[in-house]
Amino acid sequence: MNKKFRIFATCDIGEAFSRLRERGYDLEVYPQPQAPPKSLIIEKVRSGVDGLVTTLRDPIDAEVFEAGKDTLKVVAQIAVGFDNINRADANRYKVPFTHTADVLTEATAEFAFLMLGMLARQMWSAEHLTRESQWGFWHPYLPFLGDEITGKTIAIIGTGRIGLAMIKKCAGFDMNMLCYDPAYENHDYINAIQELMDLRHTRGISKEKTWIKYVPFETALRNSDFVSVHVPLLRPGESSTPTLHLFNETTLKLMKPTAFLGNTSRGPVVDEKALARALREKWIGGAALDVYEKEPLPADSPLRDPSIADRCRLMPHFASAARITRLDPDPNKGMAGRCVQGLIDVLESNYGGDVTKMPYVVNKEAFGKT
Ligand code: GLV
Repeated sequence: MNKKFRIFATCDIGEAFSRLRERGYDLEVYPQPQAPPKSLIIEKVRSGVDGLVTTLRDPIDAEVFEAGKDTLKVVAQIAVGFDNINRADANRYKVPFTHTADVLTEATAEFAFLMLGMLARQMWSAEHLTRESQWGFWHPYLPFLGDEITGKTIAIIGTGRIGLAMIKKCAGFDMNMLCYDPAYENHDYINAIQELMDLRHTRGISKEKTWIKYVPFETALRNSDFVSVHVPLLRPGESSTPTLHLFNETTLKLMKPTAFLGNTSRGPVVDEKALARALREKWIGGAALDVYEKEPLPADSPLRDPSIADRCRLMPHFASAARITRLDPDPNKGMAGRCVQGLIDVLESNYGGDVTKMPYVVNKEAFGKT
């Protein structure tokens, strides 16, 4: 029988938690929808919990690990991104942390695509016309037109799981693709997509021949009609290829004045002040954002400027916010299920207790054989 593990969860994740209760775990769930204060997380950890369930809103660093010294065995994060968890601190305290990669890949890529589509085709402004009874006539070009997506060129910045899924969606829309990744290039995948594109053309499914290739960052920005960002947030010191403010005044100016930028990765990858300026001064055509430097987006953010509202879509960190993706208790379908499984793997010593073999553990490097 399991030892009675104690868990503190900083948020509810629905039905998936019943798996823990059925196994006799003592589970306390923070009851508010907002994030708990860090001081409360520390207090709970200090009280001796074995596992902590966290979201991307919770700062997990040395203070937390110190409070859980000798008792905290795992941090299970319900998100693929984990820039809120200080990896070096987790490693120092030898606490494995897990994430929920893969199960949100398609949902996030789909949202990234749809968000750019909504921006380019002016759907937000168009619906306002209808709702505000400003739709007075059908006219070939009044009151405004949008831009097609089909057949255009998109820059895929970051070709990890979500970037590759985005490529799949874009291929279906007969887009050409310029790919860039600061750390890793998946040529097998890109070649397979090119074969698919060629087949679609030879079999008459696509009228034009389309193409995909890896190029340097600047080339991707200069030559694309759309730019979609899929890199993790890496601050200087965390990687030899940091992504903090990868999009800034200099790089935004490389984009075509008609191009659209989409960001579903992490807010700080884009310098928001520079982006607001780029939109006001029309260096680029528009932006669709799901993530921000500070979340929720502050009331005084320059991105809220009404003069750029027609070309700036602002989503509330929503890309994975779909029913199955977020809540399915099956670890192969839902983030909730995968989060719970990651926690169980560590606490119940699955995989023979070898943390390096546990599929959802991120910081495996801290547990290698010495
Ligand atoms: C959401 O942003 C995630 O990282 O899962």
